[in-house]
Amino acid sequence: MIMKEDRRFPHRHEVLQFMKTKPALVIFIVLTYAFGYLTAYYNHVPPSTTVLKTVKATKPRGSLVDNFRVTTRCGDPVPPESIRQTVIDKIFNGTSPYVDFPPPHAGKYLRSKRIKGWGSYGAVFENLIRQVKPRTIVEVGSFLGASAIHMANLTRRLGLEETQILCVDDFRGWPGFRDRFKDMALVNGDVLLLYQFMQNVVSSGSTGSILPVPFSAGSALEKLCEWGVTADLVEIDAGHDFNSAWADINRAVRILRPGGVLFGHDYFTAADNRGVRRAVNLFAEINRLKVKTDGQHWVIDSVNVT
Ligand SMILES: C[S@@+](CC[C@H](N)C(=O)[O-])C[C@H]1O[C@@H](n2cnc3c(N)ncnc32)[C@H](O)[C@@H]1O
Repeated sequence: MIMKEDRRFPHRHEVLQFMKTKPALVIFIVLTYAFGYLTAYYNHVPPSTTVLKTVKATKPRGSLVDNFRVTTRCGDPVPPESIRQTVIDKIFNGTSPYVDFPPPHAGKYLRSKRIKGWGSYGAVFENLIRQVKPRTIVEVGSFLGASAIHMANLTRRLGLEETQILCVDDFRGWPGFRDRFKDMALVNGDVLLLYQFMQNVVSSGSTGSILPVPFSAGSALEKLCEWGVTADLVEIDAGHDFNSAWADINRAVRILRPGGVLFGHDYFTAADNRGVRRAVNLFAEINRLKVKTDGQHWVIDSVNVT
């Protein structure tokens, strides 16, 4: 008797045929992957165990915040009355940079007064000078000296004859700044910003109270700290991106005398996704300090950061 063929199940040779096709191969790969994944999950073995262990092993000791800190040890504080001479000795070989100024090669390019600043006459300067009565001010970012000369005039008017203002600036401006200052000469690639700054100081009669510190903010602040130069008031107004502001603030606080005041311009600028504000706020948060604003300026007073 011939049995009727049961078509509910495929024949063996049909199964073998199917396994040689592409869909079968895809199904096989998917099932293999799923099996491996479920097995690993069941055994609680995260696939990235090795990486996690490596990160753990290299994690620095102490708080994450330590990674942001500048830890240079500052020299013993120089008495305020010796700060000007210390800077002249260390930077200018013992002779005031205003002696025999301007040099012949630059004089003919300078204007007797060429001043431009941003927020350089804000009320914050008078408010803080009245409050702190500073003996030493360090300004980080001076450009043509508008805010420095304004502070010098204020200290004179308020009877603070001894106040010294150290102006930290590389006096290079920024790439392309002459697009807006076409009248400033370029001599063999030198923009003469330092000399025009000094000429402005000479014209305003402030050579006795303002000294340029013509280096990059990072290296200058580091050296001032090493030489034991401290300030009662430090103004930050150099690079306006987060990294510059962050570095400048953290270095500046090292030269601030305990209880001194740190302040700066452009708290509200949009540059670098509000880089200045992000740096100021992060610094204040980490050190549990309060940020105040005065016009476009930020102010952190009574700073005691060790
Ligand atoms: C906005 S201007 C300063 C204006 C000045 N405070 C005023 O109100 O008159 C910024 C200055 O910071 C200087 N600067 C920028 N980055 C610097 C850096 N890393 N080191 C030194 N100076 C820097 C520039 O040369 C420029 O003169």
